[in-house]
Amino acid sequence: MTALQIHLTPTTVFDLEQIMAIEKASFPFPWTKGMFLNELLDKSYSTSFIAREAGDARVIGYVFIKTLYDELHLLNIAVDPMLRRKGVGAALLRQTLSFLEVKRMRKMILEVRVSNRPALDLYLKFGFREIGLRPNYYCQPTENALLLQYEAAANSLLGEGMRT
Ligand SMILES: CC(C)(COP(=O)(O)OP(=O)(O)OC[C@H]1O[C@@H](n2cnc3c(N)ncnc32)[C@H](O)[C@@H]1OP(=O)(O)O)[C@@H](O)C(=O)NCCC(=O)NCCS
Repeated sequence: MTALQIHLTPTTVFDLEQIMAIEKASFPFPWTKGMFLNELLDKSYSTSFIAREAGDARVIGYVFIKTLYDELHLLNIAVDPMLRRKGVGAALLRQTLSFLEVKRMRKMILEVRVSNRPALDLYLKFGFREIGLRPNYYCQPTENALLLQYEAAANSLLGEGMRT
């Protein structure tokens, strides 16, 4: 594995074309550009970060999160298929957990396909725990979602999972 020097910045509308390319390569039922735009325009509740390699303008990954009361919801995270397993996903997730801590929020929740081993392993490594199942939550193909939760009180940014 070659380590990347990863830079994270807030997402802007100018990143959308590159985000769409990664999205389409990552999901059987991708978000539309309008869905991303809605999140970017929702300045009150939505937050998003993109990852770039140092010295390179290309977007290599992104994460979208939303604030609902005292919870953060992880809506979407993906990494360029050519640059996976190099720490980009972990860097994006670490950034969202820092955001959670800075905002003094208690927990983050997300849904993940039961068969999505890479994502599941990533979340479990960072301290997310399974709290439920949503039957037939996904389509194309139809599949159950696991509901995972990260509790700020039970974890710390200095914890084992955060040192990846
Ligand atoms: C899930 C995803 C974002 C991970 O991004 P990534 O940059 O490859 O992840 P990282 O390199 O930071 O890996 C961090 C940890 O995640 C886990 N992981 C990542 N890819 C994995 C794989 N293919 N198999 C098993 N575990 C994996 C490992 O625990 C890994 O740590 P390690 O490399 O020290 O073993 C990426 O696979 C992706 O974009 N998938 C398609 C989109 C998607 O499914 N998003 C999640 C929707 S819920």
